[in-house]
Amino acid sequence: MMETKIKSSQETLQRVSSISEMKKVSQTLRKQNLIIGFVPTMGCLHEGHLNLVKRSLENCDRTVVSIFVNPAQFGPNEDLDTYPRQLEIDIAKLEAIGVDILFHPTSEEMYPENYKTYVQVNDLTEHLCGKSRPGFFKGVSTVVLKLFNIVQPHNAYFGEKDWQQLAVIETLVKDLNLDVVINRVPIAREADGLAMSSRNRYLSPQERQAALSLSHSLKKARDKIRQGTTSAKEISHLIRQYLLEEKGAEIDYISICDPENFREKEQICDRTLIALAVKIGSSRLIDNCIIEDF
Ligand code: PAF
Repeated sequence: MMETKIKSSQETLQRVSSISEMKKVSQTLRKQNLIIGFVPTMGCLHEGHLNLVKRSLENCDRTVVSIFVNPAQFGPNEDLDTYPRQLEIDIAKLEAIGVDILFHPTSEEMYPENYKTYVQVNDLTEHLCGKSRPGFFKGVSTVVLKLFNIVQPHNAYFGEKDWQQLAVIETLVKDLNLDVVINRVPIAREADGLAMSSRNRYLSPQERQAALSLSHSLKKARDKIRQGTTSAKEISHLIRQYLLEEKGAEIDYISICDPENFREKEQICDRTLIALAVKIGSSRLIDNCIIEDF
């Protein structure tokens, strides 16, 4: 029985674009008692994505990565058309790391004409990114549920940079009794602290420099809290001042809140999420940190 789980090093990436074929592949793997790990992405893969993939490769018998730029999670004035796409480069990265299956459907395959069904996780999505990107989490929840139904993974891997997205997906899985384990993976950062994101490639060299203000302001906030400041208002003010020193930084939100339900806090005295969304040039960047060692 064990032999069936051992992969030969000759195996190459299997590319699947139809939903029916992907379902068949997954059903066959499940019949063989193989554990399926799944990393959903919108492509333009960076080290952060590859960290998720590595976790799946370490813990599962077969790893499926999806690349699908999901139109349902982009607002009318957002960057759907210009969102970076580099399929062949992504495929080379997935092959090099040993991924088994790439699921790469078209928009027509995922949302055929007359498509009508969307999933909405309430409450959690009324805060942070949900406020400034109405419809975003409805689009994310819908596509993730569809992908889970198609790929039928045992495990799925998501990065903590999208903290709120993770909480929404965990709630979706719990509320709809889905049989998939959600695995959280810490934020992957560049050597200078910038949180990795596909949108970083929009940044000019000057904007790339300015984008460091997100992670640096979070570090300043952490240091100040360690020195004893517990007022959320004071910490928020400190972060705002720091971010505004960067010409061209446009703050969407600075939130100091409960990491589970995103309610704003007045005092930082137990586990707290500090989350930021800032527009640098045309790129809207997010970053966050958890304060927990009191
Ligand atoms: O985090 C992302 O890249 C996307 O929101 C996801 C989860 C792949 C859904 O389209």
